[in-house]
Amino acid sequence: MKIFLDTASVSELKEGVALGVVDGVTTNPSLIAKEKRPFRPLVEEICAIVPGDVSLEVVATDFEGMVKEGAELAQIAPNVVVKCPLTKDGIRAVRFLTGKGIRVNQTLCFSATQALLSAKAGAYYISPFLGRLDDIAHVGMDLVRDICEIYRVQGFTTQVLAASIRNPLHVVDAAKAGAHVVTMPFAVLEQLMKHPLTDLGLKKFLDDWAKLGAKI
Ligand code: E4P
Repeated sequence: MKIFLDTASVSELKEGVALGVVDGVTTNPSLIAKEKRPFRPLVEEICAIVPGDVSLEVVATDFEGMVKEGAELAQIAPNVVVKCPLTKDGIRAVRFLTGKGIRVNQTLCFSATQALLSAKAGAYYISPFLGRLDDIAHVGMDLVRDICEIYRVQGFTTQVLAASIRNPLHVVDAAKAGAHVVTMPFAVLEQLMKHPLTDLGLKKFLDDWAKLGAKI
């Protein structure tokens, strides 16, 4: 399973990539807006920092606008994956852009039927937003499980990118469900590494070592 960071923060991305466990990044218009920097230089910098795929989202909502913006975004760097929303025009845009050799991450997926159509249109990634479903008292992880099963049974090659991740349990459950990618905020990546018993155990080892007074 690949790990992506869900951020447009250059400092978070540099730190994540330096850890050696970050395979890519997802952005969206809200995350870009948070950075308060001109769009082009920001995303060019991100594409240079991250070794793997960088999802950049279109903001047009009509088919013509999406494919125009998608073609422009794809030219920014070879690792760009264009993000299109899961609307009727967005599905058409997936088919069109995929036909031009541009990879598409279909975003804002909230149902298995949407995911089925997106895969048929040729999406490279499908992004079910599980945290936002949890927020409205639907079990987001059920959607991830359903999509993984449908794609496996039907032989679709679209990769399941579990998105809207809010906590470490989401990551564990998405991994168990068979998601190809999980994209998470930097804070969740940090939570994945931490365990109080690790900290306590390390302290005890170092205290005992200090008492011995030896050197390696
Ligand atoms: C995914 O690509 C989205 O950017 C993201 O996961 C949305 O997460 P949120 O629901 O926490 O905003």
